[in-house]
Amino acid sequence: MSGTDDLDTLLARNRQWAGSLTGSDPQYFSRLAHQQLPRYLWIGCSDSRVPANQILGLLPGEIFVHRNVANVVVHSDLNCLSVIQYAVEVLQVRDIIVCGHYGCGGVSAAFREQKLGLIDNWLRHVQDVRHRHVAELAAAGPVDAQLRRLCELHVLAQTVHVGETTVVQDAWRRAQALAVHGLIYGLEDGILRHLGLSMTSDAELAAYKESQPAASNPQRGTG
Ligand code: CO
Repeated sequence: MSGTDDLDTLLARNRQWAGSLTGSDPQYFSRLAHQQLPRYLWIGCSDSRVPANQILGLLPGEIFVHRNVANVVVHSDLNCLSVIQYAVEVLQVRDIIVCGHYGCGGVSAAFREQKLGLIDNWLRHVQDVRHRHVAELAAAGPVDAQLRRLCELHVLAQTVHVGETTVVQDAWRRAQALAVHGLIYGLEDGILRHLGLSMTSDAELAAYKESQPAASNPQRGTG
């Protein structure tokens, strides 16, 4: 933002937007101010081209959102874990969507081992996924195809991480209806794709992990 003119433009756009919503539903904001009942939790990339509400055609109040660079889910990230806990235990969302995207700058930087500064430490988690799938990535074809595959593999790994959190494990143990899905978004066509991984129980999580090749499941290796 380079000056107050720019800020004024944003504020004007906001008033226009709020006016258009109350124009068709005068109680819209006063109703929302009292409570939110989102059905979904979205865990996605901070990328400005991947805004959860717009992509899904949802209004404010319909989806709870957590975004970070490269949609990473780490077992010790108090920020992400707090979002998941609040969403599952307080808001009682029914679905958690982990959404990555093709052309992700974070995944690309990790893939190319670019040095960008502090963020390299964060993207180290993406490199870990890459190292677990070296053979599969090499077999994926040209570099562009390898990068696309890494974007997918990264989403699948983070989706598993969500299923492994104590919050989701506890929810499944008490038979709370909760599904975790892995999706990927195409910047070039605006389309969301299901990566074939949805889990609604610890048994499904275990079955998915068991189905993975040994290279991506080091615990099963010979050590
Ligand atoms: Co990204």
